Amino acid sequence: MSSGNGKSFYITTPIFYVNDAPHIGHAYTEVAADVLARWHRQRGEQSFLLTGTDEHGEKILRTAAANKTTPLEWADKLVKEAWLPLLETIDIDNQDFIRTTEPRHEKNVQVFLQHLYDTGFIYQGSYEGNYCVGCEEYKTEGDLIEGDGQFAGQQVCAIHSKPVEKLKETNYFFKLSDFTQPLLDFYQANPNFIQPDSARNEVVAFVRRGLEDLSISRSKEKFDWGIDIPWDNSHITYVWFDALLNYITAIGYGEEDPASKAKFESLWPASVQVVGKDILRFHAVIWPAMLMAAGMAPAKQVFGHGWLLVGGEKMSKSKLTGIAPTQITDTFGSDAFRYYFMKAIAFGSDGSFSWEDLSARYQAELANGFGNLASRSIAMVHRYFDGVLPAAASFSEADLAVQAVAAVAVADADSAMEKVAIHDAIGSIWTLVDELNNYITVQEPWVLAKEESNRERLGTVLNTTVEGLRVLAVLLNPITPKAASKLWAAIGASVGTLDSQPIDQAAKWSQLKCGSQIAELEALFPRLEVTEEK
Ligand code: MSP
Repeated sequence: MSSGNGKSFYITTPIFYVNDAPHIGHAYTEVAADVLARWHRQRGEQSFLLTGTDEHGEKILRTAAANKTTPLEWADKLVKEAWLPLLETIDIDNQDFIRTTEPRHEKNVQVFLQHLYDTGFIYQGSYEGNYCVGCEEYKTEGDLIEGDGQFAGQQVCAIHSKPVEKLKETNYFFKLSDFTQPLLDFYQANPNFIQPDSARNEVVAFVRRGLEDLSISRSKEKFDWGIDIPWDNSHITYVWFDALLNYITAIGYGEEDPASKAKFESLWPASVQVVGKDILRFHAVIWPAMLMAAGMAPAKQVFGHGWLLVGGEKMSKSKLTGIAPTQITDTFGSDAFRYYFMKAIAFGSDGSFSWEDLSARYQAELANGFGNLASRSIAMVHRYFDGVLPAAASFSEADLAVQAVAAVAVADADSAMEKVAIHDAIGSIWTLVDELNNYITVQEPWVLAKEESNRERLGTVLNTTVEGLRVLAVLLNPITPKAASKLWAAIGASVGTLDSQPIDQAAKWSQLKCGSQIAELEALFPRLEVTEEK
């Protein structure tokens, strides 16, 4: 990165259960984190995106057994056949992928546990409660609802609509109750720690009611798919306690060699941890308390995004409402997938996916709005100037207005991304798409081209348009990387690689060298005949 400022930006996604293949809800989280990671990289920061898989626990064990295989074989298969391919499908540029069955994780989970045990934050006790295997969590009475259908008359988990199981065990507890006040103090001192505000308020209200200690182990008599408790190998670690630690084991926690230590120091505390709101409490309550107990800083921010809904309910494979990401990308491509979900749903709110909305936005915003702007502008440079970028002579008010809109778009998009308001950032970028389309309509370069005396003006108009496209390519590189790269390949050769264009310099005008060759551009978002059954 040319303007590398050395600042680190460490961003994480939840690690996903490997009991099933990914659906678009999982892909949604991945895309959001990837857009933020790429944006910060384009700002010149040392951006590091971590994602991975959560492979222990009863849910995976049961799925493996149902498929007549071992949990590790099952996890290997799902990671290879489903979870790693997902990253390709939606074009994720992650810097690491952690699996909780890797030695680098298992070993250092034990280091962390031992430390908390030695310092008195873990003790032995007994517990009785209602456990939901779907959530891998003990549920309070308030978390349960009346079941219906085959579970009528029973209390079921409100998220999974399935009955909970009564568990009574002797196990180890983490002194979470010690952290009620420290957490409240931390939330107050760091008002942006939990975002959006609605999520923050909910978590604060929950913690104010007082926290109970957390059972963090399970007896191996019941099941044994997990990490051994280091001082008592008749118990395994509770899957969430194990899973949350991935965020630090992946970057070198517990390792003694200088390279790992340096990596850890440069990345922790994480800048943003992106999670669905279903798992916000784990990340905004239990996780910071675990870190505080170990004398470590919590992440700088946990962002709880909304759910993709189907029929008003959270999309889920277990309820058979999951849509595979490839169902969308096979027709529309990964850029459209990324753009659509980031633009159509305010990040932090729930949103409903519909094929009609996706098709309509693809056509109006991507194909007609942006794609067509790029194609016709570049085609005109070829038609009127043999593919050579003309110089701009004196700028008229209309030309200067384009430059002003670009400057505002860059500044607004950057500050929206800083606030994790990805939809607003895209909205700001689109003001430039609209401005350029409007500019071409008003300037009518095809009319100017009819009179030789207008040649200089025609050059200025096309130069302005292509400069505008340059700004768009830089701003859209984190969101629609494939289209941005194609556009860059056509226009950007004279100013270096696309990845090396810093956001904060994007609006600086006249960067493209006049006289440079503009290449042909293939359609960025080809028109589609979308079949009816979709
Ligand atoms: N393994 C745990 C997370 C451990 S993190 C230390 C887990 N995994 S999960 O496979 O169930 O994935 C949960 C995440 O997937 C959610 O937090 C959310 O980010 C994403 N989503 C799953 N379904 C979703 C929707 N319907 N809508 C939006 N996001 C969804 O929980």
